[in-house]
Amino acid sequence: MPYAILSKMNITIKDISEKDIATDALILPFFEDYQHEMYSEIDSLLDGMIKRVISSKEFTGRHNQLALLHIHGMINAKRVLLVGFGKHPEITSERIRQCGGKVFSYLRDIAAKEISVSTRIFNFLPKGFRGSEKPVSYLIEGGLLSLYRFEKYKKADDAKEIESATILSSDNDIPLKQLQITASAVSVAKDLINTPANDMTPTVLSDFANSLANEKIKVKTLQKDDIEKEGMGAYLAVSKGSAQPPKFIVVEYNGAESMPVAIIGKSITFDSGGISLKPAEGMEKMKYDMSGGAAVLAIIKAASEATLPVNIVGILPATENLPGGDATRPGDIVRTITGKTVEIVNTDAEGRLALADAIGYAVKHYKPSLVIDIATLTGACSIALGSEAIAMMGNDTAAMEKLKEASEETYERVWQMPLYDEYKEYLKSDAADMKNSGGKNGSLVTAGYFLKEFAGTAPWVHLDIAGTAWSDKDKPYATKGATGVGVRLILNFLSSATYSL
Ligand code: BES
Ligand code: MN
Ligand code: ZN
Repeated sequence: MPYAILSKMNITIKDISEKDIATDALILPFFEDYQHEMYSEIDSLLDGMIKRVISSKEFTGRHNQLALLHIHGMINAKRVLLVGFGKHPEITSERIRQCGGKVFSYLRDIAAKEISVSTRIFNFLPKGFRGSEKPVSYLIEGGLLSLYRFEKYKKADDAKEIESATILSSDNDIPLKQLQITASAVSVAKDLINTPANDMTPTVLSDFANSLANEKIKVKTLQKDDIEKEGMGAYLAVSKGSAQPPKFIVVEYNGAESMPVAIIGKSITFDSGGISLKPAEGMEKMKYDMSGGAAVLAIIKAASEATLPVNIVGILPATENLPGGDATRPGDIVRTITGKTVEIVNTDAEGRLALADAIGYAVKHYKPSLVIDIATLTGACSIALGSEAIAMMGNDTAAMEKLKEASEETYERVWQMPLYDEYKEYLKSDAADMKNSGGKNGSLVTAGYFLKEFAGTAPWVHLDIAGTAWSDKDKPYATKGATGVGVRLILNFLSSATYSL
């Protein structure tokens, strides 16, 4: 099903100079308003061509700017591609990542097959530069991520692909395998999310999870009657209006002896709102309501490929949310796995119902050292933060701190929101222990508060990705559509040396 296009590219490191490398395109990064002597040797071989494009202002080194030069036998490269890193003091890892995206996707589009990257500029980063010891990694990361396309429903055109990339460096210890594993995990998540709901049912999601099974990954799926036996009445209530059976997917990755981190992904393969039907406009986008679940599967796949020394239990309470004849009605009361009852006042607040049971299941069966849920949970998340940050809430300050660090490194940024005790009031029901919606006011945080009640005393963090999981416009290293947000964040979190469980 999902294609692993990216892992095909062959990336190698060669200790060879810019003037000697034989390549379709030699990439030379530049700062804006900064001395360019670092390239003076190659520029004299190019007869001062670089100096001329710069002094003519055709290329200034502005961030993400590109200029392509065709070379005729002056050096071994056929083309030189200048890329602007922007102003020297303003350089960041994210800016480098974006340049990588611009460059790789541009070269792919002009049918370059084999490309080379100069790393000379990385010796000239400003003193305060924060980030990896190997900053070329960001360029490669952005480059790999930018190549993703979702074209499986389009008439095949002659697919242009970059076949190989050479990094010109004497350091052969750049984490290329890890970069490729992560980038292909992100594209797997994007494929799952972009696939329309008719082809991405709970059953298809469960089949895909099964395809991940190996010596270290165990997959099981609870069927409707198992779900009933477990007492997950809130999750089941969501599935009642759909002809597609629910699939409660549990994926265990065993990479260590410690207690597992449970990662729970919202997996509503289509959210119509149910009887509390959503407006028609934009409803087609609600196929992305399983972005959390897709991220969880991608994370586990990558963890296994990278043999991360952690245990993970991934849980996807997958179902559609549709208004069928047997659908849950507003006012219905259901019992969750924890015994708490919930009055469903709005069937469109379905994510928290599925997640409440999944969190309860994780705590009951796995005693996890940490529970993370990742979910396109509320429209209010995008209203509060736009598409720029994940809203984070939780009861474990240390884990949130570590996630914040991982978010700064990956630029999948998180912003913490409060879970004040007062929000409990908002969710008071006259008839049950709680109701599933507190209304419009504070709906981002009351959704978080609802989940908190099911985590109980277990360490838990909630990530609302409603604003970030889908992009309506192209970005330097991501085309519009599913973003795969959360994959890089959580992988970085899980592999950060500082995080010990
Ligand atoms: N899946 C939606 C949240 C959502 C909305 C994600 C828009 C991405 C874009 C969720 O199930 C939902 O419908 N939430 C409601 C909750 C409300 C009824 C309390 C919302 O946020 O409007
Ligand atoms: Mn909904
Ligand atoms: Zn939803």
